[in-house]
Amino acid sequence: MSKALLKEPPAAVGHPDPWTLPLDKIDVGQAALFRDDAFWPYFERLRAEDPIHYCPESRFGPYWSITKFKDIMAVDIDHKRFSSDWTYGGITIRDPEDGAGDLRLPMFIAMDPPKHDAQRKVVSPIVAPDNLAKLEGVIRERVGQIFDSLPRNETFDWVDRVSIELTTQMLATLFDFPWEDRRKLTRWSDVATADEESGIIDSKEQRVAELFECADYFTRLWNERVNSTNPNGDLISMLAHGESTRNMDRMEYLGNLILLIVGGNDTTRNSLTGGLYALSKNPSEWAKLKADHSLVENMVSEIIRWQTPLAHMRRTAVEDVEMGGKTIKKGDKVVMWYVSGNRDTDVIPDADKFIIDRKNARHHLSFGFGIHRCVGNRLAEMQLKIVWEEIMKRDLDLEVMGEPTRVLSSFVKGYEYMPVRINA
Ligand code: HEM
Repeated sequence: MSKALLKEPPAAVGHPDPWTLPLDKIDVGQAALFRDDAFWPYFERLRAEDPIHYCPESRFGPYWSITKFKDIMAVDIDHKRFSSDWTYGGITIRDPEDGAGDLRLPMFIAMDPPKHDAQRKVVSPIVAPDNLAKLEGVIRERVGQIFDSLPRNETFDWVDRVSIELTTQMLATLFDFPWEDRRKLTRWSDVATADEESGIIDSKEQRVAELFECADYFTRLWNERVNSTNPNGDLISMLAHGESTRNMDRMEYLGNLILLIVGGNDTTRNSLTGGLYALSKNPSEWAKLKADHSLVENMVSEIIRWQTPLAHMRRTAVEDVEMGGKTIKKGDKVVMWYVSGNRDTDVIPDADKFIIDRKNARHHLSFGFGIHRCVGNRLAEMQLKIVWEEIMKRDLDLEVMGEPTRVLSSFVKGYEYMPVRINA
């Protein structure tokens, strides 16, 4: 048995009763609420009683929480008044680090127009329909190899053996990254987003050192590819030859790489684990899928909504904004809780339920809205679809053997470990 299999889910620490706490003491940004899967009733109360909520004091400073579907959409598409720019604090509840170990990475997800639009345009072709069609065969072949090589009648860690391995392989394909080093991509993604209490990094300085190692590695690949007269369709070549990206400085290059690594890694990884977990908790939905494999495509959207792999995105108000009877002041931090909006029954009927043949399943917030809407959304959906089609093709009898352990983060909503067995 591998070491990972000996892990026990952490005991849930006592969280105060969300229904009796004074509203101004509700701080939904606490990572422990997510690790313990204890955040749901907090958001339920905010949606019901104070949907545009101000938390005056937290580890991340004061911030607004936007918790209803339509309000989240309104903020997300209003990029003129709600900035993503990293110089204001970027796109997560955690501000860029200050002091020793400072690392401020410019990346286009944390930029406003016009620079955002120009850089986004450069990477978009990698996920255009014709390129996706080219990738599909390679991804399907690799997915098949993984499922055929997994142990039978033996418990293994689904997160490591399937979710991480598959997403890492996909990223390595996108970057045309040296195959034997592909797990470095996983590590850099984890390091870039890790909470300091997560155990993934010991200090801010360690984060900086590892990300510089990442920068050096990618600089080597850039230098190899920038001089090529016949550039590949890989992402590094695209950035090295793109008009708005070829003159990026080192930090901007590193920032945009980290964006693509994290964007494609944690999110798809956690949808792969979340999907199996959701099915294991809803046997009637699993029976529906087994009876009708054509439900896979719709189910993939439902998985992405149900999981909501990124719990939030953050903006900064650049002017005073009236919303729901409150005044968000210029300079305030505004957090759009996708994880809450995706459970808003005013827009999504039976939002807490996992229903694989749900109508309008694609109408969810997990990919965001507006100019920053996820670039990789079709790629992520394609990958998940392939995985479930290959599972169905092989008629794999997958059994979740215990509760998963969850990531200590209020940004990346995901799993560290989930024991699974293929019964044969
Ligand atoms: C289920 C999988 C995924 C989810 C849930 C997800 C979620 C998101 C979200 C919430 C945003 C920000 C939206 C906003 O601010 O309005 C975003 C942006 C982005 N995502 Fe994804 N993502 C996924 C997969 C991917 C993949 C596979 C890639 C690429 C390989 C990717 C690359 C990006 C990039 C580059 C951006 C920045 C877009 C911009 O600022 O214009 N994502 N994603």
